Amino acid sequence: MKTPQMIRDSRVPLLLLLTGVCINGYKPVIIVHGLFDGPKEFKTMFRFINKVHPGTEVKVIDLYDNLSSLEPMWVQVQGFSKAFDDIVQKAPDGVHLLCFSQGGLICRALLSMAPDHKVHTFISLSSPQAGQYGNTEYLKRVLPDFVKKTVFRICYNRVGQKLSICDYWNDPHHRSRYLQSNSFLALLNGDRPHGKMKAWRENFLRIKNLVLIGGPDDGVITPWQSSHFGFYDSNETIVEMGNQEFYRNDTFGLKTLNARGDVSMCLHSGVKHVQWHSNYTVFSSCIEKWLT
Ligand SMILES: *[C@@H]1O[C@H](CO)[C@@H](O)[C@H](O)[C@H]1NC(C)=O
Ligand SMILES: *[C@@H]1O[C@H](CO)[C@@H](O)[C@H](O)[C@H]1NC(C)=O
Ligand SMILES: *[C@@H]1O[C@H](CO)[C@@H](O)[C@H](O)[C@H]1NC(C)=O
Ligand SMILES: *[C@@H]1O[C@H](CO)[C@@H](O)[C@H](O)[C@H]1NC(C)=O
Repeated sequence: MKTPQMIRDSRVPLLLLLTGVCINGYKPVIIVHGLFDGPKEFKTMFRFINKVHPGTEVKVIDLYDNLSSLEPMWVQVQGFSKAFDDIVQKAPDGVHLLCFSQGGLICRALLSMAPDHKVHTFISLSSPQAGQYGNTEYLKRVLPDFVKKTVFRICYNRVGQKLSICDYWNDPHHRSRYLQSNSFLALLNGDRPHGKMKAWRENFLRIKNLVLIGGPDDGVITPWQSSHFGFYDSNETIVEMGNQEFYRNDTFGLKTLNARGDVSMCLHSGVKHVQWHSNYTVFSSCIEKWLT
């Protein structure tokens, strides 16, 4: 004789199969790539996830790859949002979002603008969340005739803002020009107050966890603390997340999220920028536990 409990148990898988829901129980993972890369760079991450959580649906959004990743941030946010919505619609139990480098800012914008995003954990993998200011290989590739001291000249105007890296270029020595001309990060962080801040904060706060991953040997994100929401002051001294004005004023919800106990920081030395998504130590210590 079957007990009622057993009858229910035996029916569950069938019911789930019929409704097309994954029976392995892992939420789908949506991945947004960074500057100059694309789905190809996330094959290892795909393997890692499916090794520990077999059957997980992992979707690397194939948009704005390689050189197209220089398109304006708001344009990319629109494109990624559409692809994101299509995936989320088929995931009644929600999803996780893992976003690398520049992709971390695209994801945060997407989360701020989506009233019903169903994202549980948002993993920001070495993203310049508080902006970027440094002489790096990437800068040389995009603007070979400029160094960090002069980039503000090309970035802080309407034409410059059509280049993704200018949208989060944060020159601590030209703060007023940043506040005036930046059309992306200054709005996303509420550095320049605007009418949608409250709605964006509420949307963003619908995530259950924020995981910030980064470290001192990154070599691209500058200062590397930007991956943990720290940034330079006008003397190029690091001001940690908790002392940032956007944090103290809770302009986009970070303080509330942290007070809720839902911000998790992960720091690793010895990891270069392009290794974050392919390093198993990083995966097992900072990422794995969130993807259930
Ligand atoms: C981007 O670059 C990779 C590696 O060079 C290449 O395999 C891929 O096809 C490119 N993607 C697009 C959309 O051009
Ligand atoms: C933060 O709050 C202070 C005091 O209310 C205000 O003067 C300042 O403009 C705010 N800054 C931002 C970025 O919201
Ligand atoms: C920068 O350094 C100067 C000289 O050491 C100091 O007077 C000033 O207060 C510092 N500014 C900031 C923002 O820390
Ligand atoms: C992987 O991460 C570990 C732990 O932080 C680090 O020591 C190691 O150098 C990394 N390896 C690579 C290839 O990035």
